[in-house]
Amino acid sequence: MDCIGAAIIGCGAIFPLHAKAIAELEGVKLVAVVDTVLAKAEEAGATYGCAALTDYQAILDRPDIQVVHVCAPHNLHAEIAIACLKAGKHVLTEKPMAENLEAAYRMVETAEQSRGQLGITFQNRYNDSSVRIKETIDSGVLGKLLCMKGIVTWYRDDAYYRNSPWRGKWTSEGGGVLINQTIHTLDLLQWFGGPISSVKGSVTTDVLDQVIEVEDTAHACIDFANGARGLFYGTNAYLVNSPVELELVFEKGTLIQRRDSLYLWQDGIETLLTEPSLNPGGEKSYWGMSHGRLIADFYAHVRENKPFWLNGAEGIKALELIFDIYRSASSRQNPAPDAITMWR
Ligand SMILES: NC(=O)c1ccc[n+]([C@@H]2O[C@H](COP(=O)([O-])OP(=O)(O)OC[C@H]3O[C@@H](n4cnc5c(N)ncnc54)[C@H](O)[C@@H]3O)[C@@H](O)[C@H]2O)c1
Repeated sequence: MDCIGAAIIGCGAIFPLHAKAIAELEGVKLVAVVDTVLAKAEEAGATYGCAALTDYQAILDRPDIQVVHVCAPHNLHAEIAIACLKAGKHVLTEKPMAENLEAAYRMVETAEQSRGQLGITFQNRYNDSSVRIKETIDSGVLGKLLCMKGIVTWYRDDAYYRNSPWRGKWTSEGGGVLINQTIHTLDLLQWFGGPISSVKGSVTTDVLDQVIEVEDTAHACIDFANGARGLFYGTNAYLVNSPVELELVFEKGTLIQRRDSLYLWQDGIETLLTEPSLNPGGEKSYWGMSHGRLIADFYAHVRENKPFWLNGAEGIKALELIFDIYRSASSRQNPAPDAITMWR
């Protein structure tokens, strides 16, 4: 494969990160951008010097496009990814894979039968701190992992939801803070902890109940098959976007991610292990700044015809965890009369 041709579908908030990452890759050319809003497609096309289209179907039979980036609303990920995979394209979709599990399983199945690869954008797995944590767990140097906590306190106001009306609705976003914002942290917790044995959670809409149908706040207690426990809290109801906090307690020390730096606490001494990545431009630090790394890795796998590791089967795990939290929340938020009596 000489030059790889790319297309991006959806020219909204996340679009520039994908377009810039492609522009920085040798041997990859952005051939077309697609947005149903013509003005957005034209602006993006003019900025990156490529064709501007309004219907993604128009790229399916184009032989000059081998890779498609899906940056559209959640409920379109499966439809677009499946159409592109069936047309033999490689697909890199933004998180979450889909707005529900049934659609995500169809994506995995289609990818298995396609010559194209399916990759999921969990860019935080490429952060220096995440890589260091995973290496520490796998090496066993700190002994057994005992427990973890992940805390995400971000801010999304009315305007965020009103500007993109697909957000905030069960049918199009598929959920709220869990499926859109904290999915990265939940993905890291499940990546670090391994197979999950049980999940209990709760969801609530604390602040934006007049604006959105979905939850703005959630918590979960996640038990892993290896005996470790993960506690999670996430909200969009804070008034700033704080850096994600992570703590992993091992038998012989504790890893702490604070303000995007990773520290080791051991024998009463704290040591800095990794510093925050530099912002390469445009990336919001609280999103994680590793889109460029993930996208470069995806293209390297495509070019070398090797299976990309962060594929559908891997990316669906965070979605399964999220739907376990929703299921748990819905069963616990309709408590039996006996339980209500007990709480009083
Ligand atoms: N990985 C991350 O950290 C991260 C951060 C932000 C957003 N995202 C994800 O990126 C995706 C897009 O989010 P966003 O914030 O850019 O949303 P957005 O609303 O800003 O942009 C979505 C764009 O898709 C366009 N669109 C809608 N239907 C379309 C169709 N049928 N064909 C082509 N374009 C269509 C809209 O007109 C809009 O321009 C979501 O999946 C979101 O969760 C990921």
